[in-house]
Amino acid sequence: MDPLMAFLCLLSLYPAGYCPNPGISVGAVRTGSRFGLGDKVTYRCSSNLVLTGSAERECQSNGVWSGTEPICRQPYSYDFPEDVAPALGASLSHLLGATNPTQKKKKSVGRKIQIQRSGHLNLYLLLDASQSVAEDDFHIFKESASLMVDRIFSFEINVSVAIITFASKPKIIMSVLHDNSRDATEVINSLDNVNYKDHENGTGTNTYAALDSVHIMMNNQMQRLGMSTAAWQEIRHAIILLTDGKSNMGGSPKLAVDNIKEILNINQQRNDYLDIYAIGVGKLDVDWKELNELGSKKDGERHAFILQDTNALYQVFEHMLDVSKLTDTICGVGNMSANASAQERTPWHVTIKPKSQETCRGALISDQWVLTAAHCFRHAENSSLWRVNVGDPNSQWGKDFSIEKAVISSGFDVFAKKNQGILEFYGDDIALLKLAQKVKMSTHARPICLPCTVEANLALRRPPGSTCRDHESELLNKLSVPAHFVALNGSKLNINLKTGTEVVSQDRTTFPDLTDVREVVTDQFLCSGTENDDNPCRGESGGAVFLERRYRFFQVGLVSWGLYNPCGNSNKNSRQKAPRGKIPPPRDFHINLFRLQPWLRQHLEGILNFLPL
Ligand SMILES: *[C@@H]1O[C@H](CO)[C@@H](O)[C@H](O)[C@H]1NC(C)=O
Ligand SMILES: *[C@@H]1O[C@H](CO)[C@@H](O)[C@H](O)[C@H]1NC(C)=O
Ligand SMILES: *[C@@H]1O[C@H](CO)[C@@H](O)[C@H](O)[C@H]1NC(C)=O
Ligand SMILES: *[C@@H]1O[C@H](CO)[C@@H](O)[C@H](O)[C@H]1NC(C)=O
Ligand SMILES: *[C@@H]1O[C@H](CO)[C@@H](O)[C@H](O)[C@H]1NC(C)=O
Ligand SMILES: *[C@@H]1O[C@H](CO)[C@@H](O)[C@H](O)[C@H]1NC(C)=O
Ligand SMILES: [Mg+2]
Repeated sequence: MDPLMAFLCLLSLYPAGYCPNPGISVGAVRTGSRFGLGDKVTYRCSSNLVLTGSAERECQSNGVWSGTEPICRQPYSYDFPEDVAPALGASLSHLLGATNPTQKKKKSVGRKIQIQRSGHLNLYLLLDASQSVAEDDFHIFKESASLMVDRIFSFEINVSVAIITFASKPKIIMSVLHDNSRDATEVINSLDNVNYKDHENGTGTNTYAALDSVHIMMNNQMQRLGMSTAAWQEIRHAIILLTDGKSNMGGSPKLAVDNIKEILNINQQRNDYLDIYAIGVGKLDVDWKELNELGSKKDGERHAFILQDTNALYQVFEHMLDVSKLTDTICGVGNMSANASAQERTPWHVTIKPKSQETCRGALISDQWVLTAAHCFRHAENSSLWRVNVGDPNSQWGKDFSIEKAVISSGFDVFAKKNQGILEFYGDDIALLKLAQKVKMSTHARPICLPCTVEANLALRRPPGSTCRDHESELLNKLSVPAHFVALNGSKLNINLKTGTEVVSQDRTTFPDLTDVREVVTDQFLCSGTENDDNPCRGESGGAVFLERRYRFFQVGLVSWGLYNPCGNSNKNSRQKAPRGKIPPPRDFHINLFRLQPWLRQHLEGILNFLPL
């Protein structure tokens, strides 16, 4: 081939713009203006801003720049969870109006820690116990680590957690090779026993050695499982370093990261098998440059953060997790992020719409059954005309289901006690609806946990052999138990549950001839409406009364009736507080599901697995 031809060939193989223009974000200065294969561009930040993301990027064979877009930010400022959220979720370039429009956004599955039923996650928590991290900050690291462990285990996934503390030397507190690393209680116990003083004889910061101990642990596990087995290759690995980033011995931590990448065979296809997060929490004096260097560099993502406290860390952690792959009916998983939508926070919540009348609410308790109140059907001649609106990730309006079967408690009779002077009686105010189709599980539609079931027992992380009574004493463990219900506009409102009956006896209008209040407020009811409780409105009947334990949600009751309707006006977003000293006091009553166990068991047999009473 003549030299000119060869030159033209080369040109067509490697056109000048092999990679798109990588742009320059606000506050950054770029060196390098050639965008061919193998070309590099480097960035620094102007004035006193610090760089987040990749300081150097290389044009790769797939036409994409390596690493992640550099962003310049104020030094030593804390990240607030609400700022971190979009950084994790999507590219910051949109927000900052930076010039990176041409780079094709590949659908990356690796941006978050994936929670999924199949496969296994190894989570390595590395806690810096060196001198530059004061003992108080170390305690915040410990607390943060416990919180992460508790949250990650709440999804009932196969996860192993390694705990390593380090200063001049690493100390392995829990190895993924140990069976206990799969047990939340064992891992949290081992964390409780971690001591800052363990490193009193070597208070340097050897981040390299800490990461290398992870590398060695991985190597041992690979030997054990076999390098070419799916059991090894399908494990996802997430390393979370809680540190101030001031390594001062052992050499560059990057070498250890390179070894880890090599052993896990991290390449473009396997990028989502490893995530390294570098996080500073507390009032640390942080070496941001190093923190940033340690975190993974993935396009449109951030892996390095400085957070003020564990609460901020919790919010960030909530965003690091991606539950969209969780397609089975695991119960009581709601998104606890401040940024989640109302439906994501309470994905079991459904709206029951009759053809013409007032609406009711209900809760998914499986992928096809809804629990609600019987009185919703008082005037409903034909339930086939009703629709149940269920959350749907693809539509803010949700998805309508028709009803295959309505099971309304035969014990419910609003006039049952009319001749005792009780104009309306709500005993046995419970109903079940079977939807015409199964609901596809998603971040917006998922059942709540019903106590006294095997499903709830797993969620509470109680031993097998627990009973319904155990669940009752764990969930309703105080005289006043904080709980929630969902408002018409989807907000989660707060109440305190009581098992008292004092309240209705003074209501001479509704109950003119009442002699014994227990005739109205039977032990089937839980009561709320004291203190600063919100009162449910008309239309919120049938909705779940629920509480949170171990990052999961449990339905203990359902909204039945009340003595005060705070939604007198038609504004969905505001409700009027009952005037002080109102007679009767603004009490609300909720069917206590622990008291309706026989009925639930009779109708849900084969749908849920009940524990012994
Ligand atoms: C999260 O919420 C804050 C306000 O609370 C808002 O400013 C921010 O844009 C939200 N982020 C995302 C990703 O929705
Ligand atoms: C977790 O792993 C065990 C064996 O290691 C396996 O039997 C079980 O099915 C796995 N569970 C899930 C939910 O994948
Ligand atoms: C530190 O060194 C002292 C003296 O050799 C020893 O008694 C102590 O146990 C060491 N501490 C730890 C945590 O190893
Ligand atoms: C919670 O919702 C936020 C905002 O939609 C999302 O980014 C995050 O991945 C969700 N987290 C979990 C655990 O569902
Ligand atoms: C309810 O309506 C459906 C469809 O209109 C009809 O097929 C069914 O027979 C009705 N059921 C009752 C109990 O009236
Ligand atoms: C929803 O309504 C409640 C009162 O019913 C109110 O406190 C809350 O602010 C409302 N939420 C929104 C997003 O407007
Ligand atoms: Mg240090």
